[in-house]
Amino acid sequence: MEKNTRQKEFRERFARHADELKWLYMELYHGDESAYHYFVEMLSRMYAERNASLRKLDRERLDNPDWYKGHELVGMLMYVSAFAKNLKGVRKKLDYITDCGVNYLHLMPLLESPEGRSDGGYAVSDFRTVQPELGTMDDLAALTKDCHKRGIAVCLDFVMNHTSEDHEWAMRAKAGEKEYQDRYFFYDNWDIPNQFEQTVPQVFPQTAPGNFSWCPEANKVVMTTFYPYQWDLNYANPVVFNDMTENMLYLCNQGVDVIRLDATPYIWKELGTNCRNLPQVHTLVRIMRMVCEIVCPGTLLLGEIVMEPSKVVPYFGTVDKPECHLLYNVTTMASTWHTVATKDTRLLRHQLEQVFALPRQYTFLNYLRCHDDIGWGLDYNFISSYGGQEVPHKKFLNDYLTGKWEGSPARGELYNDDPRLGDARLCGTTASLCGLEAARYEKDGFKIDWALREDIMLHAYMFTLSGIPVLYSGDEIAQENDYGYHDDPLKREDSHWLHRGDIDWDKAALRTDPDTVEGRLFAALRRLETMRGEHRAFDGKADVWLLDTGYDGVLGIGRYCDGEKLLAYFNFDVVERVVWTGEDVELTDLWTGEKREPALPIPSGDFRWLIRTYDTEEQK
Ligand code: GLC
Repeated sequence: MEKNTRQKEFRERFARHADELKWLYMELYHGDESAYHYFVEMLSRMYAERNASLRKLDRERLDNPDWYKGHELVGMLMYVSAFAKNLKGVRKKLDYITDCGVNYLHLMPLLESPEGRSDGGYAVSDFRTVQPELGTMDDLAALTKDCHKRGIAVCLDFVMNHTSEDHEWAMRAKAGEKEYQDRYFFYDNWDIPNQFEQTVPQVFPQTAPGNFSWCPEANKVVMTTFYPYQWDLNYANPVVFNDMTENMLYLCNQGVDVIRLDATPYIWKELGTNCRNLPQVHTLVRIMRMVCEIVCPGTLLLGEIVMEPSKVVPYFGTVDKPECHLLYNVTTMASTWHTVATKDTRLLRHQLEQVFALPRQYTFLNYLRCHDDIGWGLDYNFISSYGGQEVPHKKFLNDYLTGKWEGSPARGELYNDDPRLGDARLCGTTASLCGLEAARYEKDGFKIDWALREDIMLHAYMFTLSGIPVLYSGDEIAQENDYGYHDDPLKREDSHWLHRGDIDWDKAALRTDPDTVEGRLFAALRRLETMRGEHRAFDGKADVWLLDTGYDGVLGIGRYCDGEKLLAYFNFDVVERVVWTGEDVELTDLWTGEKREPALPIPSGDFRWLIRTYDTEEQK
């Protein structure tokens, strides 16, 4: 494209947002004209640096703005090192990823980060350099290019709340340069930090207590909400926002399609508050959304808001002023594991009822497991309505999922056990939490079948929800917990590593063998994905509602879109249940192709997807 035409494209996109952008920026940064001027120049520069094929992709996606909202995307989340050693290795294994039916690939943090002080890559020391053992920025750009050729979108974390203490800015701050200290939160003594501690909760109470650390080099106290080596950036300083936005756009220009805004709620701090979800956070995210729409409109923002539902949904923004394109369905995930443990779907139904009532343009990312722990941020008010209490209930969930509870087949481990508050979170792979690890250890065929059935059922349920389902790499071949981290002094304290093991390629090779656990699970997930992709009842624009199954142990979800209705049942209970579909005709079982009577038996740990097609809209 001609340079002039390109500039015209930028100007037109900019003009669309100019008023709001300037207004918000000036409000946040107290009318700092020169910072704003720099910001706009930077946007123009980053647009000019965007290559022709990415700009073409931008335009294609602008012509089809709902490209991520249908029922075609299937995600996978992976550590580059655990999957294929390095980025070149991932490129070589794209056939496997395609084989998994995956067309959205989330690569865990891969930017430079000091070993042993990296929080799994979430302490970035250089936003423009890839960790040397994983490859180079050119390797990343080559990988995204290959992915795009196969129709795979690539997601990458943008760790914006903090930098590593080894980042150049932090080093210069340590050396006493005031300009760089101003990019963080530095205090001469503990007076103000102590005031913050009165109102700010702790993220890692066991492994990194407190929100501040002493910096001996600068002889000052610095804010470190996460680990002491992760220094919180001060977004009240426009230089920080300008430079970090540039870093984000730099990643977009390497072909990253989805930017995961790590720890979004934390990015604005204010004394006397809990420093979470402050209004300024929304202003910053809104500005970043406009920035993407101007510079790289094919890019999506995925907010990582691990909070209760009332805090999550506002990050979608409004229809006129959207913020994130995608958000994690975090409470649904935690409520799901609660249901696995309790065999009681009441809380999950209550949670889904709220999700189903949201506008359909809100797109969630659904998942069973991710690299982090399962935090028990459940609706305890609701649980107490039928007799549960928060602390004992959490204890039950953790006892069940760590296998301490009599008869529980689950094998997880606690994360950040905080005995003061009776709080602990939980780690483990899907297969181990479903009981496959214990069943295989015992070589008990009955238990293996049951655990496998539950594993498949959970995936089927995830595929039934609107949005983008994201598999955790290894889950497709029933990867079990990796206890090796206990022997690694750099990882020992962090039980997240339990479910971050290297993929076992010998086991992955068994995926084509129908007589193995790996083969049975892999084939089942693949079939579920295919059925989901083929049937419009799974589309993001479908009506979705809860079905009354008559049993607390059985979840029922209905979906309808363009003449196709899906009735989905999931039996979390330990006994078989017969549900009544309430339909006046026999429905087709998507899995077997058979016709099903309205009285439908569902074995324990199993599911049914039933479909009904209507000729005309009136018959619905
Ligand atoms: C996010 C990540 C988590 C990390 C934290 C700090 O919550 O998912 O792994 O520890 O941010 O960057």
